[in-house]
Amino acid sequence: MIIKQFVLTAFQQNTRVVACERTRRAMCIDPGEQSDGLEMYIRDNGLELQAIALTHGHLDHIGGTRDLHKAFPDAEILIHKGDEEMYSALASQPLMLGIGPDQFAALGFDYKAPPPITRYWQHDEMYELGDLRFSVRHCPGHTRGHVVLAELPEKKVFVGDCLFLGSIGRTDLPGGKYEQLIESINSQILSLDDDFVVYSGHGPETTVGRERTTNPFLTGVHNTNKGRFV
Ligand SMILES: [Fe+2]
Repeated sequence: MIIKQFVLTAFQQNTRVVACERTRRAMCIDPGEQSDGLEMYIRDNGLELQAIALTHGHLDHIGGTRDLHKAFPDAEILIHKGDEEMYSALASQPLMLGIGPDQFAALGFDYKAPPPITRYWQHDEMYELGDLRFSVRHCPGHTRGHVVLAELPEKKVFVGDCLFLGSIGRTDLPGGKYEQLIESINSQILSLDDDFVVYSGHGPETTVGRERTTNPFLTGVHNTNKGRFV
């Protein structure tokens, strides 16, 4: 599996290109904003962008969808139905976070209506990308329609903003629910083997085993409803 990470947006979000080495079929998981480097990487490496795969509808994960789709119009756009409303409301999301229009330029925000969604993720479906197979798992709690994508033979899971090294996603934004997020993490992520590598939407990689044993939100050390990141 090819994995190329780009850290984008004022929120230091991890945008990733994931591809099958043999077939060169690729998807971009969560394009945070327009990036010439991202588009160049896909072209220069002979990758065929099959999908823009969105873990959830927050602005720092979907903000680059419009431009990336313009550059690769054959790519399908996938998101869970539960986050469709949030996706469509991209332009008004900064206000939801308390960010006024006077700050947009400084933060690099220039949101126009995102392109139409091609298809909705279905919980428990297998998504094919060349020789790779991703188990799609609905993980609500950070948002209503958050999904994680697990490649089982490769033991890699892309978790968006559900889980971070030593932390979890925030649950104080619309659609967030703390108990639901903990339940989602336990049932959909920690049910994977300990040696699965966890690729989060912000910050460094970790493993299922490390989070299971040391993440204070999951071991019971922490009992708060405040996670990190958008
Ligand atoms: Fe988020």
